[in-house]
Amino acid sequence: MMKIVSGNSNRPLAEAICSYLNMPMTKAVVKRFNDMEVFVEIQENVRGQDMFVVQSTSFPANDHLMELLIIIDALKRASAKRITAVIPYFGYARQDRKPGPRTPISAKLVANLITRAGADRVLTLDLHAGQIQGVFDIPTDNLFAGPVMVRDIRQHGDVNNTVVVSPDVGGVVRARALAKRLSAPLAIVDKRRDRPGESEVMNIIGAVEGKSCILIDDIVDSGGTLVNAAEALLTKGAKEVTAYITHGVLSGGAVARITSSMLKELVITDSIQPTEAVRIARNIRVMPVATLLGEAIGRTSREESVSSLFE
Ligand code: R5P
Repeated sequence: MMKIVSGNSNRPLAEAICSYLNMPMTKAVVKRFNDMEVFVEIQENVRGQDMFVVQSTSFPANDHLMELLIIIDALKRASAKRITAVIPYFGYARQDRKPGPRTPISAKLVANLITRAGADRVLTLDLHAGQIQGVFDIPTDNLFAGPVMVRDIRQHGDVNNTVVVSPDVGGVVRARALAKRLSAPLAIVDKRRDRPGESEVMNIIGAVEGKSCILIDDIVDSGGTLVNAAEALLTKGAKEVTAYITHGVLSGGAVARITSSMLKELVITDSIQPTEAVRIARNIRVMPVATLLGEAIGRTSREESVSSLFE
């Protein structure tokens, strides 16, 4: 039988997944000792069960990662049959290579920790780069928010006058996939600093004048990439700019930066639990992904294919 356990990073999402699957949440305590050590107690029998642990490794990333590892350890020692780490937002994914000498590949280290703790599978959403699946030596399903975004875009706007835009050269593959689904053209913001010390120039590759631009990205963190790209597009004559970004990391002053920007709307998913500031922001909307994750969890448990969820 399948059961779901939640850490503290995003309980509302875990609860929404449980209600989609029409099942109760497994009773468990995930709390802190006075010195902030994590303590976990699974309060019902899980022997021989197919367990899914829902936990995004979002802010505070290390605490939430530690909770995930300790929940997995508790389940393993309680004789669960199979443990799937459901990590809607996989933090540390941006550290997937050595950017310079004597630097770590933290994404690989975190994958090793999750595997060593006892996870048998990983289910995640819009990994920063698809090849990060390769840092795990256990089966990994990387779901895409793209199909959910396409449905939302069609409901909310006129797709005929739309251009899909990648805010940087690194995001072109993701943006191109969405442009193809919408049968819309593609544009790219190319940020360049020609000489050290000179300010960055934003070149737009593609026609955006008079168009409704949709910026696509996996992560909005400080909001800098997004707001700069939106300004560059409006300077080039875009009619309006909206953005669809899977993971709303939104650190520091990001929410203020976005609400005071020219961005018409930023749509994020609830892979990371939205803060109160996000919930009341005038131009940020949260698109739920519990159905997508719940469906993938149900199919995984029934040993069915999940590939139709990518369509
Ligand atoms: C970078 O490669 C990512 O895809 C995002 O563009 C980046 O993490 C966004 O960061 P920020 O919001 O701080 O500019």
